[in-house]
Amino acid sequence: LALLMNQGQSPLLSNVGLSVLAYKATAMFIPRVGPSFIKRGFSGKDMNKVEKYVIPETMGAVSALVYFMCMIIFIPVLFYKYLVPNHNPNLPSDGSVAEVAKSQFPHDLLGAYLSALLSILSVSLLGILDDLFDIRWRHKFFLPAIAAIPLLVVYYVDYGVTYVSVPSIVRPFLKRSLINLGFLYYFYMAAVAIFCPNSINIIAGVNGVEAGQSLVLALVIACNDLFYVLSPKNKDALRAHLLSLYLVLPLIGVTAGLLKYNWWPSRVFVGDTFCYFAGMVMAVVGILGHFSKTLMLFFIPQIFNFALSVPQLFGLVECPRHRLPKLNVKTGLLENSYTEFSLNEHPLPKKTLLTISIFEKLRLIRVEYDPSTGRPLRCTNFTIINFVLYHLGPMREDHLTICIMGLQLLTGIFGLIIRHFVAPLVYPE
Ligand code: UD1
Ligand code: MG
Repeated sequence: LALLMNQGQSPLLSNVGLSVLAYKATAMFIPRVGPSFIKRGFSGKDMNKVEKYVIPETMGAVSALVYFMCMIIFIPVLFYKYLVPNHNPNLPSDGSVAEVAKSQFPHDLLGAYLSALLSILSVSLLGILDDLFDIRWRHKFFLPAIAAIPLLVVYYVDYGVTYVSVPSIVRPFLKRSLINLGFLYYFYMAAVAIFCPNSINIIAGVNGVEAGQSLVLALVIACNDLFYVLSPKNKDALRAHLLSLYLVLPLIGVTAGLLKYNWWPSRVFVGDTFCYFAGMVMAVVGILGHFSKTLMLFFIPQIFNFALSVPQLFGLVECPRHRLPKLNVKTGLLENSYTEFSLNEHPLPKKTLLTISIFEKLRLIRVEYDPSTGRPLRCTNFTIINFVLYHLGPMREDHLTICIMGLQLLTGIFGLIIRHFVAPLVYPE
């Protein structure tokens, strides 16, 4: 690492410094701009408090803005040695510097970097519009895939790998070690871009949980990158994971700055802006760092929550506007929230009955029945947060956030072990 950072040759140290500044700046701006956000209508009620205070929302916009400032300031740092001839021994010191510099300049790296920023910027814009207008989810769902087009183009030109390796045990049956997915691989990456922002946005509604899960995810991604950077297998892997670190370290900074105020009891809400922005940064680094499959290992809690949410998202079971847990005013603890089935209507649709009975058998939800008629009265909402409360019982809001962050961390460690210790055994080179 010391070698990497020697004599300011590597921009990594500057990136670490910028990330610390990003933390400081976010933590400084948030309390200062809060009142103006409320004035403009960017505010929300904290539903799990006895007194339902109105606090500023969309504070993710501050995180995102500070992030973009950092990333823009970082551009001349990243290319310093091509801009300042004394730092590049290959450049002559006479007037021909400009020509040589031009021919050596890594335009491909700049292209990748700018396309990453463009994709993250457009999804953050979508988040701000969502906080402003509460866009229907079927309208906003696919937009991150369009925002990912610049990245997919860079991936195609720069890397272009669309095959996946076959585990060694299956190889004798398939008689090959690689399967080429072709353009399907691009669909997969576009799906990753859709999934990451949306899946963070639906593990929400408990103080600190959106920023908390993002912070753990970003730390795990940075650890994964460090594994490669400290013992690089080849130049391409080193480059890809350094780029990933440059993008993800400032995310850690701005997320930590936001969490300081979003932690229970929250003084600000992060808004959809933050969920979209943070999710997209992670999708982008997964795609550009060529580890979008490993990334999905880190996202197992989000995948679980999405799979669990499918019945409510796709209308098999009614989906209330808010599925966040409910405060018991007497105990001060959060309890499960329920979807109530209206009693005056005809029997529940078959699809609903079937779904709730399967999910109940799998112990994913709790269903309460009318003792006299056996008719379902209500069931817990289909989210990982309700799942945790169902199995562990009521708990204080911050403990619930810590539980989700703990789950996220365990998954991350599991993912790192699979990727760095198990995968090499299953996929011999
Ligand atoms: C998503 C969830 C929804 C959940 C909501 C909570 C799905 C499909 N949607 O909707 O079930 O209720 O997030 O954010 O799963 N809030 C709190 N405490 C918090 C954070 C938020 O009370 O710690 C409330 C505030 O009133 C805030 C509102 O949630 O104004 C924000 O909700 P919003 O982000 O607009 O909800 P969605 O993302 O649409
Ligand atoms: Mg939201």
